[in-house]
Amino acid sequence: MIHTHILVCGGTGCRASQAKEVQEELVSLIKDKFLTESVQVTTTGCFGFCEKGPIVKIIPDQTFYTQVTPEDARDIIEEHIIKGRKVERLLYEDPKTKKRISDSIHMNFYKKQLRIALRNCGIVDPENIDEYIARDGYQALGRVLSIYTPAEVTDIIKQSGLRGRGGAGFPTGMKWEITSKVEATQKYVVCNADEGDPGAFMDRSILEGDPHSVIEAMAICGYCIGANKGLIYIRAEYPLAIGRLLVAIEQARKYGLLGRGILGNDFEFDIELKYGAGAFVCGEETALIQSMEGRRGEPVIKPPFPAEKGYFDCPTNVNNVETFANICPIILKGAEWFNSIGTEKSKGTKVFALAGKINNVGLIEVPMGTTLREVIFDIGGGIKGGKKFKSVQTGGPSGGCLTESSLDMPIDYETLLDEGSMMGSGGMIVMDEDDCMVAISKFYLEFTLDESCGKCAPCRIGNKRLWEILNKMTKGEATEKDLEKLIDLSHTIKDTSLCGLGQTSPNPILSTFKNFKHEYLGHVRDKQCEAGQCKDLLHYTIDAKMCVGCTACLRNCPVGAISGEKKKPHLIHQDICIKCGICYEKCKFNAILHQS
Ligand SMILES: Cc1cc2nc3c(=O)[nH]c(=O)nc-3n(C[C@H](O)[C@H](O)[C@H](O)COP(=O)(O)O)c2cc1C
Ligand code: SF4
Ligand code: SF4
Ligand code: SF4
Ligand code: FES
Repeated sequence: MIHTHILVCGGTGCRASQAKEVQEELVSLIKDKFLTESVQVTTTGCFGFCEKGPIVKIIPDQTFYTQVTPEDARDIIEEHIIKGRKVERLLYEDPKTKKRISDSIHMNFYKKQLRIALRNCGIVDPENIDEYIARDGYQALGRVLSIYTPAEVTDIIKQSGLRGRGGAGFPTGMKWEITSKVEATQKYVVCNADEGDPGAFMDRSILEGDPHSVIEAMAICGYCIGANKGLIYIRAEYPLAIGRLLVAIEQARKYGLLGRGILGNDFEFDIELKYGAGAFVCGEETALIQSMEGRRGEPVIKPPFPAEKGYFDCPTNVNNVETFANICPIILKGAEWFNSIGTEKSKGTKVFALAGKINNVGLIEVPMGTTLREVIFDIGGGIKGGKKFKSVQTGGPSGGCLTESSLDMPIDYETLLDEGSMMGSGGMIVMDEDDCMVAISKFYLEFTLDESCGKCAPCRIGNKRLWEILNKMTKGEATEKDLEKLIDLSHTIKDTSLCGLGQTSPNPILSTFKNFKHEYLGHVRDKQCEAGQCKDLLHYTIDAKMCVGCTACLRNCPVGAISGEKKKPHLIHQDICIKCGICYEKCKFNAILHQS
């Protein structure tokens, strides 16, 4: 009988750092030690702790091993599995206390999380439908088809208060109701798995770790709105998610859970994948539909909304991956249960991709209403290298940068908007004292500029002008008139762009200007970059009193800008220096000063 399960993360992050090789080694050692009858190795989806991957978890004692290499497999089998002694050096080390944590239950990273959309990620084998079924999989579909009318199911979703997780937060039940009421012989359910925000990987992780949860929910949606066809629009850059979806769809068909006469009922539903080429704008629902139809991925004016006129002019319900991943638990546990989690207007949980200058980079799911402080400092383990928190960007390129004063604010759709940011799809990028907010705005604008489809002038031309002004600022060439223009033009672009991309593209500028105005003024009036990031505003010099003449800087300077003799103070020649910062990194005596 199997009494120990070794779960090995099979998510993209861990796979990229040899998780597959770790798993092969574990399987081979189990065979060698004649343990195949009692120990089983399973591939799972992402545990959310990607920064410390590859992750290996032992069940039932919940031991959580991080950064496991193929060479560590022997210790796990010989020490932990055979002798019952945990391999101390592979346990997670708390960044604050520096203590090793014995299992995932005691890790702060998981303590405040509530996993609804991610309920099966890191638990089931995504390529094994039986494991999904063993965790109540396809029970919601069975219940829907056997005891509820489509209107009753839609009502449950409405009552639950679930709002779209793709960005705008539109009530899901209401969207289903609208599409269900449109008369048509052909309708479609579309799952938006485009996920173009920089740093975001919530949807990819759900599809890689639990593809059936989305397939089952799409079938339920099809039943509600009267559609027999589902389409998943997924970027071709997600090969693992695509592969697992294809396996899952095939398995569901074999089990009679997709196709004709599902679970013996008079209901037909099947799913096809449509591949995107990785354009951010194709995540916008009208551009997505254009792209699926084989046209250029450009947004079109709404109304009509896809619910009335979508894929090939048929009524089409578009929902995000995470939205779908919430559906089955709502059906099984009830609208009231879901409604009891979260804040007054934002129900349930939200998945966030934590990134940037934070100790625990990864994927988390928390109840709506959790504060940013809890997310960043308790779950995220605080700022890397003990640096000072400066800002957190939520909502990706459409969102804004919040400051310390927002840290105790409960996260929900409305409060984030009130604070000048937005929920977006769940990207959360943390910045520390070394980040320059003008440079950050420029970074996001570079992204939107690249991703703009070019259909309308405010976004295509206006964003370019914004970028030029920001570029001048980072070089110390901008005037106060330019700053005025920057803000004025930002508002014009927001008001006149055709789609959400342009309408939100100036948000990073506007929010950083509101919260860090002094940094903009510093760049414009004093030609100074407080964070020391804008190279053109920096000067590297050597403090003669501190310099011991070790020559490390001289030897490493790529352009020969440093002169000096051994054991004597060195000198930087400003006319040659390209401000690369290498000398600053190499000097062990704190003799290099970089000042703005
Ligand atoms: C520029 C832009 C990009 C978007 N990208 C995505 C995306 O990658 N995934 C997504 O689900 N929604 C994205 N959206 C939102 C979709 O247009 C749409 O509102 C969403 O898919 C609806 O699903 P939901 O109601 O479940 O959130 C994007 C919107 C804009 C304006
Ligand atoms: S706002 Fe930008 S992305 Fe949207 S239609 Fe206009 S040019 Fe294209
Ligand atoms: S690395 Fe530092 S101490 Fe050594 S020569 Fe350069 S400035 Fe002086
Ligand atoms: S900043 Fe770079 S180029 Fe300038 S002196 Fe130092 S190493 Fe040389
Ligand atoms: S990919 Fe392994 S923990 Fe995220």
